[in-house]
Formats: sequence, C-alpha cells, structure tokens
Amino acid sequence: MKPIKVGVVGLGMVAQIMHLPYLKESDRFELAAVCDVSRKLADRMAAHYGAPYACTDVDDMLRHGNVDAVFILTFNHCDIAKKAARAGKHMFCEKPVAFSVQEAQEIKRAVDKAGVTFMIGYMKRYDQGFLLGLKHFERMKKKKDVRMITVHDACFANDLAIRSMYNLVKYNDVPQQIITDGITTMEMRLRQAVGKNAPAHVLSAYRLLLETGSHDVNVLRGAFGDPHKVLHTEIWPEGNWIATTLDYGGNVRCNLCVARSARNWPDEFITAYGLTDTVTVEFPNPFHKNAATEVRRTFMHGDATTYETTKASHEEAFEAELRHFHDCVRKNKTPLTSLDQGIEDTKLMADIVKAFNGRR
Ligand SMILES: NC(=O)c1ccc[n+]([C@@H]2O[C@H](COP(=O)([O-])OP(=O)(O)OC[C@H]3O[C@@H](n4cnc5c(N)ncnc54)[C@H](O)[C@@H]3O)[C@@H](O)[C@H]2O)c1
Repeated sequence: MKPIKVGVVGLGMVAQIMHLPYLKESDRFELAAVCDVSRKLADRMAAHYGAPYACTDVDDMLRHGNVDAVFILTFNHCDIAKKAARAGKHMFCEKPVAFSVQEAQEIKRAVDKAGVTFMIGYMKRYDQGFLLGLKHFERMKKKKDVRMITVHDACFANDLAIRSMYNLVKYNDVPQQIITDGITTMEMRLRQAVGKNAPAHVLSAYRLLLETGSHDVNVLRGAFGDPHKVLHTEIWPEGNWIATTLDYGGNVRCNLCVARSARNWPDEFITAYGLTDTVTVEFPNPFHKNAATEVRRTFMHGDATTYETTKASHEEAFEAELRHFHDCVRKNKTPLTSLDQGIEDTKLMADIVKAFNGRR
C-alpha cells in the first residue's frame, strides 16, 4: 500500500494529541511536512515526528513540501483550503469547516474546480458505538416509533480536562499581526453568518455551536437527516448556553442543547425516544483515547422491561476517520463527512442562532 504524503498545517492541541501521533503510527500515511506560524513549534514537531520539511507559511509547504494531502488543523481554514485546492492537494479539514456558509461555499468552489478529496474531521461519525446506535435508530425510524430526539452537549473546559493528560508544546513566537488578522477574519465571518449587529452573547453562542455543537449537529444529521425547520431558540445572556427545538416533520421534534461549562467531565449524548424503545448513544471524553462510547437501549417485551448497555468497541474514532480518509483518496470516493454536509451544518447552526428573538 502506497502511503499518502501528508503536510500538516496547524500544530496545536488537536494535532499534538491526535493527528500527529496517529499519522506517524499508520503505514497508510507518511508525514512529509509540517507548518505552523510558530517557527519554534514547527521545528520542534518536525524533529519529534521526523517530518523532513518544516515551515511557517503554507505557500512554502505547497511549493517545497512534497505532499499529496494537506491536513488543515488551524482555526481559520478557508485561505489554506483554497491554496491547497489550487495546488491540487487532497484535504482533511478539522471541524467546523468554516464560520459562515459563504466561507464554506468559497472552499467548495475551489475544491470542485480542483477535483480533489475534501473530508471534515467529524470523528464521532466513525465511532463504533455511534455506528451501533445508528442501527437501533434505523429500526426505530422504520417502525415510525420516534417521537422525540434529545441531543445534549455540556462540554467541559478543555484546559482542565487536558492539562492532567498531555504535555502540550506551545511557544510565544507568533507575530502579533498574524494573531490579530486571524481574529479579525474570524469575527468578520461570524457576523457574515448571524448578522453584522449581532450582540456579543449571540456571537459567543454561535461560536460555541460551531466549535462544540458542530459535532452534535453532524451526529444528528448522520442519524436523522436535516430538520424541516428551526422552531425556537434560547440563548443565555452569558452566551454559554444555547437550546433549540427542531421540527423533524409529523410528530417528531428534536431538542438540542449545547453548553460551555467549567467542569472537567463530558456530558454528551443523543437519545431517541419512541413509543416502544428508548436508545441513547453517550460519547466519552474525546481526549480519553480509546474510551468506548456507550449505547443504551430500553425496551418492553410483554410486561418485562429490558435495559441493555453495550460498549461496542475501544477503537479510537480519530484513527478510524484517518482510515476512511485514506480510502476516499485512494479510491476516489466522497467522504462520509463531506464538504456538502459541512455546508449544511453551517447553515443549520446559523439558522438556529437567527431563530433567537432576543428575549428570554
Ligand atoms: N475533532 C475534534 O474533536 C477537535 C478537537 C479540538 C480541536 N478541533 C479543531 O481543530 C482546529 C484546531 O484546534 P486546536 O485546538 O488544535 O487549536 P490550537 O490553537 O491549539 O492550534 C492551532 C495551531 O494553528 C497554528 N496556526 C494558526 N494559523 C495558522 C496558519 N495560517 N498557518 C499555519 N499555522 C497556523 C497556531 O499557531 C496553532 O499552533 C479547530 O478547527 C478546532 O475546532 C477539533
């Protein structure tokens, strides 16, 4: 099997904890280049992971890095994605793909023109527990049993949850202008999505949805497709809680709640409530490598109630998504977590925020 030569752009948290180690371990990939606006970080990661080329500018990497595919692990993705597409590179891009639908569509135009593979890193879609839960959800849908779906993600404080597990490397050598430009671009795109006069707490809730809730919105899409419309949204004055009700047609509704909390434990699940079945897929802390996702099913048989709990596998979802990316590039297939899904997710998240009428 010929490995795909990868160039990684953005060498921060998710690169150091997940992608660099798994890329290094896999014989499907060869780490050909690393790039970060922090010179010291680029050199340190190149030395640690044995990448033959390190740089601070993605243009240099695309010219001299000898890569077939680019991993985009920065916060702002659009400019890097457009450049990589113009250079004919395949792309793996972390979620959220973009801060606004317009930005995501700019990426799509470049990707379509180049005819390259583009996959979004929604790793939960490749999680064996979620795949088992999907089978139960499918059965419930077939029986027209589903009435209510609850999606809940009270995410934890990353710093607290990660500090005790990993030694992340970070330097203070990024030029201030680059940091300022990145924040300005992001804020412009956020306002493009939810309105240029949106108040701070609404912008903050939208960011929370993008950064954390995008996983949940995509999991919901994977299980139940696109909702017909957004019925109602609440945003808390601190901008750190957002709750919405989605109409899935007929008698089916979904309550989705995403919150940023100060605690250090995860609290993330999707539950489908039916007339005869209840099925929950509960995700573990994503930074606990190989922790199993739990699938719980409660159902009636005659007068008896059965409570069934399954841990389908300890396979790491971050590794499973890499295998899928390799497969898509080599076999020229559209990824399960495609750019089109990322565009739909971005649109839904903006619609959720725009349904907030400003009152509580
Ligand atoms: N799948 C997941 O569960 C998951 C988890 C964490 C983060 N993420 C996503 O991964 C992305 C990165 O998040 P993070 O927490 O690792 O961020 P981070 O801030 O820790 O790392 C980002 C790195 O990118 C570098 N960078 C910024 N702009 C750059 C540019 N133009 N060229 C080269 N390098 C540049 C920064 O210097 C930094 O080292 C985000 O999109 C985030 O949403 C996904």
